[in-house]
Amino acid sequence: MRDDTLSRTLLDWYDRHGRTLPWRAPPGALLAGKTLDPYRIWLSEVMCQQTTVAAVKGYFQRFTERWPTVADLAAAPDAAVMAEWAGLGYYARARNLLKCAREVVARHGGRFPGSKAELLTLPGIGPYTAAAIASIAFDERATVVDGNVERVITRLRKLETPLPVARPEIARLAEAITPAHRPGDYAQAVMDLGATICTPRNPACGICPWMEPCAARAEGIQTTLPRKLPKTAKPVREGTLWLARRADGLWLVEDRPDKGLLGGMWGWPGSPWDGGGGTEPLRADWQVAGEVRHTFSHFHLILTVLTATVPPGANPERGSFRPVTGRELPTVMRKAFELAVPGTA
Ligand code: ADE
Repeated sequence: MRDDTLSRTLLDWYDRHGRTLPWRAPPGALLAGKTLDPYRIWLSEVMCQQTTVAAVKGYFQRFTERWPTVADLAAAPDAAVMAEWAGLGYYARARNLLKCAREVVARHGGRFPGSKAELLTLPGIGPYTAAAIASIAFDERATVVDGNVERVITRLRKLETPLPVARPEIARLAEAITPAHRPGDYAQAVMDLGATICTPRNPACGICPWMEPCAARAEGIQTTLPRKLPKTAKPVREGTLWLARRADGLWLVEDRPDKGLLGGMWGWPGSPWDGGGGTEPLRADWQVAGEVRHTFSHFHLILTVLTATVPPGANPERGSFRPVTGRELPTVMRKAFELAVPGTA
């Protein structure tokens, strides 16, 4: 099947079966001249790199209600943005989000630049995000490659080279199929196909618009692709968290330093994650509540959670007593809260 037939077939499918998402235009609206706000596309794409589209919807709605424009977001206090981001993970992304918004305002008068090449100069915007914004918001023929697209393309073309070695070839093959007409809808169509039909374990080949041209399917090896080089095991790191609740219901929390994995987020005072004991933030009758486990991109973390109730005059060496709800905490800290006070997080 020719490349232009492939893209046309997929766009026809997208017009009928594409997902309805808060940042998308309704079917046909773009062809009728509607344009999309690059701020909303940027925000949704950065969020979608963190978690599933379903989980992003609520975050996207809260962010855009609170900060409807990039200028509103740029003017927001860092702590407010970090608190809204809590739970999405990878907090360096949230800090870059703010940096980027502020640069769009300072350097570009509050308008996102309109090409992939210029978008790439902004903080936190890499090849994937730049291509997504350029194609979806600015109709540029840019090719988006995420995990979904990698899976779809390796199967369609029966590429047996393992990831990540296959990446440059996948990019070339994906680029060749990207149409000049409706490149943004096409990008989202491939992502939707990968998310809803060409899934990792149980692809629904029987209803796939690319079933007939799919080379892997022709040989029945679609579920074995993409192949992957064996992963190296992640190391395990360990530490301690101290959760102190004052008699008036406030909790001892600290602002984590801006650098590092949970940089800029609220957290329970803790030890370094190096297996050493660390020092408690104040003297108290600490009780072991249990352990929480959390996996980051490069290591597993096991934290021992200690809890104590402390008197009104307690004087901690670090952090301060504040009201805390689970929603403002990064996930690993939320897990510890849930362990200490079941039903809160
Ligand atoms: N995943 C990330 N961005 C997406 C989009 N715009 N459409 C579908 N899936 C996505």
